[in-house]
Amino acid sequence: MKFFIDTANLADIQKAYKVGVLSGVTTNPSLVAKEGVKFEDRIEEILKAVPEVESVSAEVTPDAVTAEEMIAQANELIKINNNDKNITIKLPMTLAGLEACRYLAKKGVKTNVTLIFTVNQALLAARAGATYVSPFLGRLDDISEDGVLLVSKIAELFRVHNLDTQIIAASVRHPDHVTRVAMAGAHIATIPFSVIEQLAKHPLTEQGLEKFAADWKKAVQ
Ligand code: E4P
Repeated sequence: MKFFIDTANLADIQKAYKVGVLSGVTTNPSLVAKEGVKFEDRIEEILKAVPEVESVSAEVTPDAVTAEEMIAQANELIKINNNDKNITIKLPMTLAGLEACRYLAKKGVKTNVTLIFTVNQALLAARAGATYVSPFLGRLDDISEDGVLLVSKIAELFRVHNLDTQIIAASVRHPDHVTRVAMAGAHIATIPFSVIEQLAKHPLTEQGLEKFAADWKKAVQ
């Protein structure tokens, strides 16, 4: 399973990229709004900051409701940074979003269909040619449903029907989500920087480092 970072915060993206485990970035209108920056400018900055990743998701804005409006926005977005092939157009899981997805897929543009909460939505998006689908597990858990179970059902369905759409486990809240979606067959988990930090840490690792440092100091003295 690969890691994407789920943020529009440039500093967090740069920190994660530097570690060397990042395969992509996802953003959404709420994450961009939180940064208080111009959407297109931030996407351009992100594309420049992470030149070697496979995908940077830029979501069409909520003003784009019809497929034509989404395609018009997508055409502007793919012009950023000289038609960088990494840019992925994130589209909502609506009939218009699927129509835009099919159109863009035919043009060779990567797409990420977002706000997936059922297996049927994921199947529709895959059949519309989506490069990625984003099931939101945390938001399902929030309403007492099982987000990881959804990811495992989508993975099984894609395997049985030989669909090459990749599953991005989204709305990931903690390290246990990461382990469980990896085992459930997600291709990617998109996670905030705070969760990347949590994944790297363990109290016994900290204790071990402290002991090595203390023993080393004693021996050197
Ligand atoms: C995914 O692409 C979304 O940006 C994201 O994971 C949403 O997560 P949230 O439920 O924490 O807002």
